[in-house]
Amino acid sequence: MNIKITKATKSRIDSVDMNNIPFGKVFSDHMFIADYIDGKWTNLEIKPIQNLSLHPSNLALHYGQSVFEGMKASVTKEGVPCLFRPEMHAKRINKSAARMCMPAFPEDLFVEAVTKLVGIEKNWIPPYDGSALYIRPFMFATDEFLGVRPSEKYKFIIMTLPVGPYYTKPVSLKAETEFVRAAIGGVGEAKAAGNYAASLYPAKLAQEQGFDQIMWLDAKEFKYIQEVGTMNIFFVIDGVIVTPQTDGAILKGITRDSFITIFKDAGYKVEERLIGIDEVFAAHADGKLQEVFGAGTAAVVSKVERIHHDGKEIKLDVSDYKIANLAYDTLTGLRNGTVEDKFGWVIPVEIMETV
Ligand code: COI
Repeated sequence: MNIKITKATKSRIDSVDMNNIPFGKVFSDHMFIADYIDGKWTNLEIKPIQNLSLHPSNLALHYGQSVFEGMKASVTKEGVPCLFRPEMHAKRINKSAARMCMPAFPEDLFVEAVTKLVGIEKNWIPPYDGSALYIRPFMFATDEFLGVRPSEKYKFIIMTLPVGPYYTKPVSLKAETEFVRAAIGGVGEAKAAGNYAASLYPAKLAQEQGFDQIMWLDAKEFKYIQEVGTMNIFFVIDGVIVTPQTDGAILKGITRDSFITIFKDAGYKVEERLIGIDEVFAAHADGKLQEVFGAGTAAVVSKVERIHHDGKEIKLDVSDYKIANLAYDTLTGLRNGTVEDKFGWVIPVEIMETV
């Protein structure tokens, strides 16, 4: 499809210190934008990033018809910009969209738009391990209407942001025993904006109590671990890597999927199954809980040093985390081209003329 390209007259890149970028605050020069009108995607354009004009009755603002993705571009040691498993993100946003009664965005167009945008913004990819160009595709309703029904019009936008690590140090988690993130049959598997809105109040309370993030438990029994704030979660128990099975209430993380593949390829036993918070505490008491770490696009690998549950607490020595380091080093190596890409995950970006 034809994407119109309108370039910024001057790049802002010289005003950015790439060695010191806070997550989520610095945006590159351009964005991709498209409209869904009369049943098809149209007005495809890459243009200087700019404000939107919305009517106050915008349906997404009132009823939350809004989904998003998080993905990353990196640059190899030879200077080649690359995407990581872009087709998986194209598929996932459409699964999220379907759950929220929104139209699909064609997968080939998704990959083409991301590729063209990153090609134009390639100078914005920080060349440091642990840093990347974060890519935020999102879709939201644009009907001007206050009745509760699916919108007929939508916008699909992609922004890119140079980012450093999301968590700069090991994290402490509170296993939540009052609030829930998602129940089976709900929208927990969708990357829907409302899931994140619903997490804010419990997360704020947890932070006031001295924890970095919430470890969500299942909505029925408050027993089985689901995921953590902005990440999926892995445990190493007596040499076996365990992660909660996806059941419709847990986000199907692409980093999660990549780590499972990397661990199995390295010869580790990986179990996707129900894992209870009591099992984790019991494994710790038996001296068998070796590692706990989160995995996500933004977070990459985030080591967990403390877990609180119902008045009890465990502390972990993250200095000896071998599996978490294997995950981080392999993913970073794949992205910078120093680890052989035997899974075909790293896709070089077609280089467009820079602004
Ligand atoms: C990501 O890891 O890309 C996410 O979407 C988490 C985000 C909410 C920071």
